[in-house]
Amino acid sequence: MTHHPRDKGIFLAEVRRRHTLCRAHFELTLSVPEFPHAAPGQFLQVLCREPARTDIAAASPEFARACPAEAPMLRRPFSIGGLRRPGRAVEIDILGRVVGPGTAFLDARRPGDRVDLLGPLGRPFSMPSSGHLAILVAGGIGLPPIRWQAEILAHRGVSAVAVVGAQSRDLLPISLVESPSSAGTPTFCAEEFSGHGVPLAVTTDDGTCGLRGRVTDALEPLLRSGRPAAHPRVFACGPEPMLRAVAALCARHGVVCELAMERVMACGMGTCQSCVIPVHDASRESGWRYALCCTEGPVFLGDRVRWDL
Ligand SMILES: Cc1cc2nc3c(=O)[nH]c(=O)nc-3n(C[C@H](O)[C@H](O)[C@H](O)COP(=O)(O)OP(=O)(O)OC[C@H]3O[C@@H](n4cnc5c(N)ncnc54)[C@H](O)[C@@H]3O)c2cc1C
Ligand code: FES
Repeated sequence: MTHHPRDKGIFLAEVRRRHTLCRAHFELTLSVPEFPHAAPGQFLQVLCREPARTDIAAASPEFARACPAEAPMLRRPFSIGGLRRPGRAVEIDILGRVVGPGTAFLDARRPGDRVDLLGPLGRPFSMPSSGHLAILVAGGIGLPPIRWQAEILAHRGVSAVAVVGAQSRDLLPISLVESPSSAGTPTFCAEEFSGHGVPLAVTTDDGTCGLRGRVTDALEPLLRSGRPAAHPRVFACGPEPMLRAVAALCARHGVVCELAMERVMACGMGTCQSCVIPVHDASRESGWRYALCCTEGPVFLGDRVRWDL
């Protein structure tokens, strides 16, 4: 691990590449001269407006053009979807789905544009040893940390399988290649996983690709078949109802799961208290307390979360 003098910071990145992943998702590859060590599950707080310029006065027309009033004031959280250190620069991937002004701002960034990042933030997924089987589960825009975890696990020689689900084929944020098989069931490859030797199962709610159903419909047989000798451990990211279902399924099969939870966040650094999640805490008389998703998470063990509150 490269030594860095600080564990997080603010960095001015330059957009290197932008591409459209599917009907709703885009990917930006950002380049920064330096960046601290980071791991899958950690996130960035991204300024979704022009980076502040200290050389123009707030009252000037140029400032008004650069920072229109409708641009979000608060940074927006985005999972790190990949990080490489080619030579002296650091490349960071973020994936987005446009849902409002912040994500629309990022979607409109083009190579050469600047983006202001704060990070890396939060606690990452654990890294299982090579005796484990990692079962990676991504729902929709939950893909970024799962995609990066697949890459790191492959580098460490840990066996992994992946399940990726979306509402429909045109909302799958992966580069999917479908091959017909003699048994009549198509098999799927996506560079994001096949490039790392990770087999992939695809689910769509409407059946337009892969198994018709939810990611849990593909996860259940994997947990049931068990490969008990392989010590399965599930890593998941996606909408909260999906994570709740994954946690319940894993509990039924006695498999540990780690969930990257994406609560709405304002500061991302433990100050505003906007991102609380109820968790079990045996040291409290009540048996539970609120944890901050941004600093204690975003990764939580599935059985630590009080899903009933
Ligand atoms: C740790 C973390 C990692 C994230 N990673 C990604 C990522 O990799 N890619 C990505 O596209 N998005 C990610 N998100 C969600 C992303 O931060 C929001 O979509 C974004 O802040 C919306 O900003 P906006 O200005 O475009 O829309 P806003 O106008 O702020 O919001 C539009 C709508 O989305 C809802 N919304 C905002 N944040 C969330 C959230 N966290 N969960 C559910 N609904 C929300 C709002 O309530 C509103 O209804 C992540 C969130 C967290 C907490
Ligand atoms: S987002 Fe502010 S405390 Fe978590």
